[in-house]
Amino acid sequence: MSGTIRKAVFPAAGLGTRFLPATKAQPKEMLVLVDKPVIQYGVEEAVQSGVPNIIIVTGRGKNAIEDHFDVAVELESYLEQRGKTALLEEIRKITAPINVAYVRQGEPLGLGHAVLVTRNLIGDEPFAVILGDDVIDANPPALKQMIDVYERVQGPVLAVERVAPEDVASYGIVAIDEREDLGPRVHRVKDLVEKPRREDAPSNLAIIGRYILTPDIFEALEATGRDGSGEIQLTNGLRRLLQQRPVYVYEIEGVRHDTGNKLGFLKALVYFALRRPDLAEPFRRYLESLDLKIGVET
Ligand code: G1P
Repeated sequence: MSGTIRKAVFPAAGLGTRFLPATKAQPKEMLVLVDKPVIQYGVEEAVQSGVPNIIIVTGRGKNAIEDHFDVAVELESYLEQRGKTALLEEIRKITAPINVAYVRQGEPLGLGHAVLVTRNLIGDEPFAVILGDDVIDANPPALKQMIDVYERVQGPVLAVERVAPEDVASYGIVAIDEREDLGPRVHRVKDLVEKPRREDAPSNLAIIGRYILTPDIFEALEATGRDGSGEIQLTNGLRRLLQQRPVYVYEIEGVRHDTGNKLGFLKALVYFALRRPDLAEPFRRYLESLDLKIGVET
């Protein structure tokens, strides 16, 4: 039963500076991978994992996200009148299975703060956090895999992946306790540290954008001070929580794309286009025809 996790939080208040100028007047969550905005991949993953209640943490300039997950009455009747039923179905699939609530973050005070502002909407139950930048192709869906682990261990579960040593400074990094046998891919957390320098990192096991959290995280986040950059980090809240209860990590089975940077976004675009029945063949032919030695003169 995956009924225990009913709500998924999507932090989406960030300014998206890495994608300027594209994100000057458009939320980064709405950048398009083939023909779907990035955030829709995460929302579909939540729905396919049995979690239809979506809480999106927004800020100024993010209205396009709300419009996207709202019923588009005019568009629907236009498609209906013209008998474009396949497209109509595609559009309805976005909104029909979900309940969405929005909460504003107000100030950009970090991921921990984004989670904290959902406190009243979450109440006293475990919940999921999905960072939409991390698009994960997996079967069963990544969140479903994590829910299954949560139901076994009954404690917070963080998704992790091994990363190259030179990349540890971009992630929350986890030290694990190897003594306990919790089954394949599951470990107990010994310590965590947000974006350590390579030489200070306790491992190369990086937190990726999926979390199952318990409501005691809110107390822990309340008590967590701002870091050097003035933000409340979720990793630091989890570190505090670790003093009170066991926290677990799970190595997801699947392919993760970090669409939050340009190269990762381009790789994801090619990856998902090649998995689309209507595009795969002509796109593959096009890619094979490219002169890959082409480049910028230096
Ligand atoms: C956030 C978290 C970090 C985590 C990462 C995963 O960082 O703070 O612990 O490893 O997401 O994508 P951000 O990428 O927002 O800087």
